[in-house]
Amino acid sequence: MSHAALRVGICGVGTVGLATLEILRGQSLALTARCGQPLSVTCVGSRREHPDHDYGDARVSRDVMDVARDPEVDVLVELIGGTSVAYDLIKLAIEQGKHVVTANKALIAEHGNELIAMAESAGVQIRFEAAVAGGIPIIKALREAVAANQVSEVAGIINGTGNFILTEMTTKGRAFDDVLSEAQTLGYAEADPTYDIDGTDAAHKLVILASLAFGIPLNIDAPVKHGIQEVTPADLEYAGELGYRVKHLGIARQKDAGIEMRVHPTLIPESKQLANVDGVLNAVMVVGDAVGELVLVGAGAGGAATASSVCADLIDIARNPAGSGPALGVPVAQLTAKPLVPAGDIASEWYVRLTAADQPDVTSKISQILTSCNIGIASLVQKPSSADEGKAPIVLLTQIARESVMTQAIDEICGLVETDPDVAVLRVESFDQ
Ligand SMILES: NC(=O)c1ccc[n+]([C@@H]2O[C@H](COP(=O)([O-])OP(=O)(O)OC[C@H]3O[C@@H](n4cnc5c(N)ncnc54)[C@H](OP(=O)(O)O)[C@@H]3O)[C@@H](O)[C@H]2O)c1
Repeated sequence: MSHAALRVGICGVGTVGLATLEILRGQSLALTARCGQPLSVTCVGSRREHPDHDYGDARVSRDVMDVARDPEVDVLVELIGGTSVAYDLIKLAIEQGKHVVTANKALIAEHGNELIAMAESAGVQIRFEAAVAGGIPIIKALREAVAANQVSEVAGIINGTGNFILTEMTTKGRAFDDVLSEAQTLGYAEADPTYDIDGTDAAHKLVILASLAFGIPLNIDAPVKHGIQEVTPADLEYAGELGYRVKHLGIARQKDAGIEMRVHPTLIPESKQLANVDGVLNAVMVVGDAVGELVLVGAGAGGAATASSVCADLIDIARNPAGSGPALGVPVAQLTAKPLVPAGDIASEWYVRLTAADQPDVTSKISQILTSCNIGIASLVQKPSSADEGKAPIVLLTQIARESVMTQAIDEICGLVETDPDVAVLRVESFDQ
């Protein structure tokens, strides 16, 4: 597949598609020098007419499948999103012998094993740097830069919208809905922000990171999933008083019992680097046996940052048309499933906020229950009561306990006549192990 130019077909001209076109046009001379050939957009797939868009000399097709069939396209760039049209489109492109670049984490997490295996058989590349952490080159880092390591952990802030919302709520006391609509205006949020909020988007990305880190097949069902909708302004405030920041983390960790995979809001000590990654920034920490701890920080969403990664994949394909190694670090057929640690067995420190009658013996009853469950108490504070109801919030931090034990203790605490059933329970990660 050697041409005077690498011929690119772009499907989907929304936030990322337009930003990709802008970089390819604006940087064309530099890209030609860096790739040894121009990156030329020969075809654009856009289901609607956008009179304000400028596609240069590219042919425009209303049917995106035409781009996959176009003989004048070497690489199909899928920037539509979702797992239906995008799936059919990428399959067709591979069948037509085209390389594929995508920013679609949902698709890679759900259908990546099949699509990548197809691409490997067809001798074409499928690349997805933009699918995880926007502009941060974490896929390349795991696949290439730390390939000499046994990776024991990948953890980080991998949803820009969620981090933007939590940061604005924490630092400016803004309301959740208000910040979410700003994130949508700024192009950070997914078209349907449900996945940003309920942890699904971060789970998709974690599935991809875990596959690269541990050589396991992509398994969309693996992560334990909690979203930022579980965090209240009160918890952000109490966490701050205790010296913590609340971040939505994705964590994939290799333990003796198997692999832990989880996404959830997490209290992190303020002194830790991840606690201070704010706004739309993402951060991914990788722990390898040779390299030690590595942290990459950068824009996790937004058109330009994401398009930077899309273009990086195009540049790689132009430079290495025969490929620069398997998409997931090893060929799909050599990925090996490992046991997953069940949610109940995942241990951590815990933050708990509950509301109880403002009576002197309540805290000792709660302490007794935790002690009877072998859960150590790191701190337990009864806040001032709200005058009208005679009830007071109780905020406590525990030492390390398994989730199943914690759940049992919380059930017993909620069974006390003095406590309300509404309890907030969040994991705490101090990254000291
Ligand atoms: N935005 C980010 O910050 C970001 C970051 C990382 C990864 N991503 C990923 O990048 C991809 C694109 O995201 P985006 O933010 O650019 O989305 P977007 O702004 O909503 O753009 C999506 C584009 O795809 C088109 N499209 C949607 N459904 C289609 C269909 N059934 N057939 C043909 N075209 C269709 C839309 O067409 P219309 O113009 O007709 O609606 C639109 O042009 C997604 O996979 C997303 O997860 C985005």
